[in-house]
Amino acid sequence: MEIIQATTKSQREAAYQLRYEVFVEEQNVPVELERDEHDETDAVHFIAIQADNVVGTARIIRKGTAAKVQRVAVAKSHRGTGLGRSLMRHLMEFAPSMEGIDAIVLGAQIDALPFYEKLGFVAEGDVFDDAGIPHRTMRYALES
Ligand code: COA
Repeated sequence: MEIIQATTKSQREAAYQLRYEVFVEEQNVPVELERDEHDETDAVHFIAIQADNVVGTARIIRKGTAAKVQRVAVAKSHRGTGLGRSLMRHLMEFAPSMEGIDAIVLGAQIDALPFYEKLGFVAEGDVFDDAGIPHRTMRYALES
């Protein structure tokens, strides 16, 4: 398995396809909310590739002085194998290379809180709704 930055159009399309399967088909997120203006502008996309297939993806955008991790998705067939953790660790190593960043934040689906807690993220604030799914903000402070 290798994790790379999705720099070409076809790599990004493969990421969008996996996101469609996971968020729209599996989790019933409205398709018009799944893709947004960040995708083809400022988002940095990552893909996990195994046997020539894209089996994981996530993206980072800048939000003030934080790197915001979004759209973390692992193919159903590959869950529970440590792939999501490897993907997140890759992003957590990348984020400090972004200028002026002092934390990594994300909106975690409530069910996924333990996954992010195991990576060192800490939940803060109240539960909020995003695309019909309850979420909490989570933060990982970076060394200054
Ligand atoms: N609830 C509780 N623990 C979880 C969990 C969950 N939903 N998902 C993973 N974990 C735990 C694992 O048990 C494992 O713990 P361990 O180290 O003690 O064995 C650790 O987190 C790492 O798990 P890993 O196998 O790397 O997770 P994964 O590859 O299955 O990826 C998701 C996790 C959430 C990315 C994946 O389930 C997924 O894509 N889900 C659908 C999309 C989604 O909900 N994305 C999150 C949006 S916030």
